[in-house]
Amino acid sequence: MRIAVYPGSFDPVTNGHLDIIRRASRIYDRLIVGVLNNPSKRSPMFSVEERIELIRGVTDDIENVEVDSFTGLLVDFAKAKGAQVIVKGLRTVADFEYEFQMALLNKALNPEYETVFLMTDTKYSYISSSMVKELAGFKGDLTGLVPEEVIAKIRMKV
Ligand code: PNS
Repeated sequence: MRIAVYPGSFDPVTNGHLDIIRRASRIYDRLIVGVLNNPSKRSPMFSVEERIELIRGVTDDIENVEVDSFTGLLVDFAKAKGAQVIVKGLRTVADFEYEFQMALLNKALNPEYETVFLMTDTKYSYISSSMVKELAGFKGDLTGLVPEEVIAKIRMKV
């Protein structure tokens, strides 16, 4: 069984994340979305539990997707889940530099895991959770950036 983990902060999950989740779920038998529980990250919009609920809500039609949180190292989470692969989405060259470094570091930490990159669909290439939060703070239109049910939850926060 091919098991992959797709890690991130997902604060909140965007349509770009959802696209990667859908595509990766067709490649692997099981895809485990891992929400990083990072207490040092200041003032998240959603708690880890809320983020998990949001991701579960927008992926409930995809049978082989599970959502869980993790603390500590990604390679340890991958090991605990019996995964062989770490899936990451790539949008820009700036993403590449950071992701390349992380992939090499994770490989150094544990060479058993392969990081596999999926290129963003161009229509999502400019979306990030931080941009969504900034836009939400200015009451900007979030249509098309995040799923409708996430828009509703963001409205309750700002
Ligand atoms: O959505 P993000 O914030 O870009 O996701 C970053 C994430 C969660 C993938 C990354 O921070 C991560 O893997 N954190 C876990 C700690 C870890 O293993 N770091 C790499 C080695 S120090």
